[in-house]
Amino acid sequence: MKKKKQIKKVNVKQEKMVEELSSESNLENRRTFLRKIWKGLGLIAGFELATIFFGFLFSGKEDNETKTKQIYEAGKVNSFQPNTVTVFRGGRFYLARLEDGGFMALSLRCTHLGCSINWEDSKKRFVCPCHSSVFAINGNVENPPAPTALDYFPIKIENGIVKVDIGTKLKRNRFNKSQVEYA
Ligand code: FES
Repeated sequence: MKKKKQIKKVNVKQEKMVEELSSESNLENRRTFLRKIWKGLGLIAGFELATIFFGFLFSGKEDNETKTKQIYEAGKVNSFQPNTVTVFRGGRFYLARLEDGGFMALSLRCTHLGCSINWEDSKKRFVCPCHSSVFAINGNVENPPAPTALDYFPIKIENGIVKVDIGTKLKRNRFNKSQVEYA
C-alpha cells in the first residue's frame, strides 16, 4: 500500500515536470514564431524603403522619357506650303506656316475663355465661336475680347522634320519674330 502511494507520488511529479517542460517549449515556440514575424515585417519594410530610394534615384530618367514622349512629329517641312494652316487635333495645336516660310505651333484654345478656335482658310484667320474673337495666322489678336495672342509651342526642325514640343505651352502678349522657327 505504501509502495503504491509512493509510485503515485512519483507519477504526479513526472506529470508536473512534463507539463512544465511542455509549457516552456510552447513559450519558446511562440517566441520563435514572433521573431520570424518581426523578421518578415523587417524584410517587407526594407523592400519598401529600397523601392522608394531607387524610385527617387531614377526619377530624373523618367522625367526625360516623359519629355521625349511630348515631342510631336508633325511631318516633313516640304509637306507644308507657306501661308497655310494644318490642324493636329491629337497634339492639340495648329501648325501655321507663315508667308515667309517660318513655322509656328499655335494652341487650339482661345485666350479669352478657352473655347476651341477654328481656322477659316478663305479669310486666313482663326475665329472663336464663343464670343467672336479673331486671330491672325501668327496668333495675334485681330478682334477682342481675347486679351492676348494665342499660346504657342516650341518647334525644332531636325533632318527636315517639324517637331513640336507639346509639353511646353508658352504664353505671350503679342506676336514677335523670335517665336517663329525656320528650316
Ligand atoms: S472664349 Fe473665345 S472669344 Fe470668348
